[in-house]
Amino acid sequence: MSASPEGVEAAGPGAGDLVLSFQRSFFTMGRMDSLPLPELEERLKNSDDSTLIQHILQQHEMTGAEPLDDLYDALGEVLRSEELKMCHKNYFLLSGENIRLGENVAIISEGTTGLVTWEAAQFFAEWAMENSEVFNCRSILELGSGIGLVGITICKTCTPKQYIFSDCHPNVLQQLRTNILSNGLLLDSDTWNAKDCEVEVKNKYVSEENQGPEITVIGLDWSEVTQEQVELQPDIIIATDVIYDPEVVLCLVSVLEKFLISNERKEQGSVVYLASTVRNPETYHQFKMELDKVGIGHQVIPGPTRKIFPYNRCTEIELLKIVFAHHL
Ligand SMILES: C[S@@+](CC[C@H](N)C(=O)[O-])C[C@H]1O[C@@H](n2cnc3c(N)ncnc32)[C@H](O)[C@@H]1O
Repeated sequence: MSASPEGVEAAGPGAGDLVLSFQRSFFTMGRMDSLPLPELEERLKNSDDSTLIQHILQQHEMTGAEPLDDLYDALGEVLRSEELKMCHKNYFLLSGENIRLGENVAIISEGTTGLVTWEAAQFFAEWAMENSEVFNCRSILELGSGIGLVGITICKTCTPKQYIFSDCHPNVLQQLRTNILSNGLLLDSDTWNAKDCEVEVKNKYVSEENQGPEITVIGLDWSEVTQEQVELQPDIIIATDVIYDPEVVLCLVSVLEKFLISNERKEQGSVVYLASTVRNPETYHQFKMELDKVGIGHQVIPGPTRKIFPYNRCTEIELLKIVFAHHL
């Protein structure tokens, strides 16, 4: 693990943590007030060598970008972030590897909330890394994937058999594909029926050396799920930050019910993991009540214990494990 980066101890005790904290906030385009700048400035003033700053630059180079110019560009992006439409965020894993995602700056843009990574996704990705055995050799369907942090993390750090990303918004699906490919993952086949343009696109990116999961991106709208999609019969269904609109609660419950019924024939049935930022307790409660009404059980399970991504941990995020009530 790289929490105490090699060589950075020379800059004094605690310098490794400071670098890590700076790097995590900086490369996820955190706001200026989330960067530990006063501590860093203090440390640099008191340090008689350049180890600390060298280390930050080295970490930057590991993201695959050009050293100095690009660092200054990135700093400029942080400062001008309100004016920019798109940015690239780097989510560092404990291994030191990073997941680089193209994201929009505005939290709602192009009529969707799906072009940014939400806190519940970072929370669930952390949980997945701690519980990787849950995903081992399983087929997984993610609903409302957005631009892919959860699935890309699982495909890179766990060993699923198959991962199906899904969303309903054509621009989100496009950015999702770009993000998957730019993180070195291979799309086995990419099929979507974009609602607005009614096109079906199939691309084969199969490599003979590919030992990883079979990865697919599909267009799946909760209000128009097809029988063909229900028959995907995933072992695990994942969704993060999808309970925010009272109007979609009913159709989301109905989608989960369809998938759970379809998989009843399997010995273990399907399991749903759903992570939500509880913004409106009434809407969230309504979702749980609707699950109860159709005999779907839910239990709250503990979230991640290690802090890996630099998101705001003051908001309440709840993780539910959802199965048919008789399986609980
Ligand atoms: C708040 S975003 C969460 C994105 C991602 N899961 C995350 O946590 O970062 C909600 C996502 O649900 C998708 N979504 C909303 N309504 C949908 C529907 N009816 N069918 C499928 N996806 C939908 C949006 O396109 C968006 O990507």
